Amino acid sequence: MQAKVIQLLAFLVFISGCLAPETGTTTKSNLTTGGGGSSGGSGSAPPPPAPAGSGNIAPEGRVNGIDATSGIVSGWVYDQNTLNQSVTVEFYFDGPVGSVQMAAGSPVVANVQRAFTPVGPYGYSYNIPQQYKDGKQHLLYVYGLDTTNGTRSLLKISDFASGPSSFFVGSTAAGMSYYNSTVQPSLASACGNCHGPNYIVDKARMALPSKFSGGSGTNNNLYRKGMGLDGHGAGNRCGSGPPCTLINTWWGLEFN
Ligand code: HEC
Repeated sequence: MQAKVIQLLAFLVFISGCLAPETGTTTKSNLTTGGGGSSGGSGSAPPPPAPAGSGNIAPEGRVNGIDATSGIVSGWVYDQNTLNQSVTVEFYFDGPVGSVQMAAGSPVVANVQRAFTPVGPYGYSYNIPQQYKDGKQHLLYVYGLDTTNGTRSLLKISDFASGPSSFFVGSTAAGMSYYNSTVQPSLASACGNCHGPNYIVDKARMALPSKFSGGSGTNNNLYRKGMGLDGHGAGNRCGSGPPCTLINTWWGLEFN
């Protein structure tokens, strides 16, 4: 594991093309640890369900990012109805709540003081369990629990995104080596005039749609655009051969 290059991306950030932080969001460096960090523990259980009162507002929050080397997820969440109370945050991998077990080390309490508006004990961080740092694509479902009635709100990765975040932590050595030796030169010659090849960016393109939503070696964005589908600005640049045939093989190495 230590020999592997650790890398990560959250593809929804790439989709939106919005790498700039949103107004009012925070990153790890904006968080100051307080009160023993944000790990869960005894006393972090969700509040008992209470009838939803009129005027109750769902928690507002974001997944700001996942650190490429440590696999630490950070973000913020607050409940407008109880701004002085920390929100409980739950983490699930590869399926929403109810379909999979809550992940190890979850829930955590968002109790890290946030430097940006709204200021308060709203920052959280969570270390992805080692088993998911395998370089494969995983979906991460992060929920903030309403402090009044325990109702879960899925925290998004950006204003534009919907659904869970997708990430890769750790690289697949075979996938990266195949990209470098075989896919990259072919992309450079067939697509390079307009799209400079880049491992991370091409992997993000290839991860759309995610394998959990039916993505495959031959229906991903990189392949389809290369084949001139989905209204590709430059038409079919693969014919029936490379680089699309290579993309298909690369997909299998990365995501299977
Ligand atoms: C002559 C320039 C040109 C070449 C060569 C070209 N493209 Fe494109 N590509 C475009 C343009 C213009 C768009 C934007 C319109 C669209 O979305 O199709 C685009 C969009 C894309 C997108 C979606 C947007 C993005 O950046 O992710 C993908 C994926 C893509 N191309 C893949 C490829 C692949 C793979 C090849 C080579 C097999 C290729 N393109 C060759 C011009 C080109």
